Amino acid sequence: SQYQKGVKQLCEKGHLNAVPKKYILPVSERPTKSSVEDPNVVKQNLQLPIIDFAELLGPNRPQVLQSLANACQQYGFFQLVNHCMLEDVVRSMIDVSGRFFDLPLEERAKYMTTDMRAPVRCGTSFSQTKDTVLCWRDFLKLLCHPLPDFLPHWPASPVDFRKVVGTYAEETKHLFLVVMDAILESLGIMEDNILKDFENGSQMMVANFYPACPQPDLTLGIPPHSDYGFLTLLLQDEVEGLQIQHQDKWITVQPIPNAFVVNVGDHLEIYSNGKYKSVLHRVVVNEAKSRVSVASLHSLPFNCTVRPSPKLVDEANPKRYMDTDFRTFLAYVSSREPKKKDFLESRK
Ligand code: SIN
Ligand code: FE2
Repeated sequence: SQYQKGVKQLCEKGHLNAVPKKYILPVSERPTKSSVEDPNVVKQNLQLPIIDFAELLGPNRPQVLQSLANACQQYGFFQLVNHCMLEDVVRSMIDVSGRFFDLPLEERAKYMTTDMRAPVRCGTSFSQTKDTVLCWRDFLKLLCHPLPDFLPHWPASPVDFRKVVGTYAEETKHLFLVVMDAILESLGIMEDNILKDFENGSQMMVANFYPACPQPDLTLGIPPHSDYGFLTLLLQDEVEGLQIQHQDKWITVQPIPNAFVVNVGDHLEIYSNGKYKSVLHRVVVNEAKSRVSVASLHSLPFNCTVRPSPKLVDEANPKRYMDTDFRTFLAYVSSREPKKKDFLESRK
């Protein structure tokens, strides 16, 4: 249909001064910024916890681990600053993603497929085949590990795409491993074999493009969802849009240049036996500016079972989740989100 080619194409076709019906959410699901009584009200002034990566590796590690534990318990999110990745690698990644979405439709259409297992997949909305209301977002998903298997399938245009994204994928993986190691330590888990498994773990990258929207109060860039893996490392450009649920309110995550927004995924919630929370988040769009973000999702290898760590289960803390086969879980993830939460609940 006319919507399969994405929102960017739709915006370019003509001067859109209204959101097409297909994108209009029921009133109860729309983002609002209005009255205080509204449960959807957005708290503007709440900052996410900030974790200083360099401090984490220095003599203050114990204090930083404590802040990390608090962040993962209370917010499920934190901003990672002062990390080891070169600013140029970060900037180039955002830049090349923007240039990819700038390519003519014919170029991007080569990668449009509804096959969830494709190593490269361009698409639109959230779950294209299932959404009854479409979302204001186009995306490019890339499988990243092992890199030599996948990189040759990635887009060859823009010309520097593979080089920039390949470097970025390797460096995010490294950053993930160091942060994951700290998170395990913050849970009191040392020398666990799981860190070895993560080295060969799954890595998927999603570049998102949210065009400026004529009526941003009627639609969403991404509806409320949680991420499936252990950790997501997210880069956003200077345009705000990401909101996370915190104490029944939505809070906007302020973009910090060169920082990563890191969040706990469902698998870490399960592994930590519910200690760390996989928190709902969504993306709002705006009238003035388009927005680019890049999410890097990390977990165990696809053939692994995810289960609460035996070290976090005892009489006082009974096992809260059943063992979860990755593939079964992903099948649920790809169906509608609310079902995923039911699934998690039923596995307790
Ligand atoms: C996501 O939740 O995967 C995307 C977040 C964003 O675009 O900020
Ligand atoms: Fe997400």
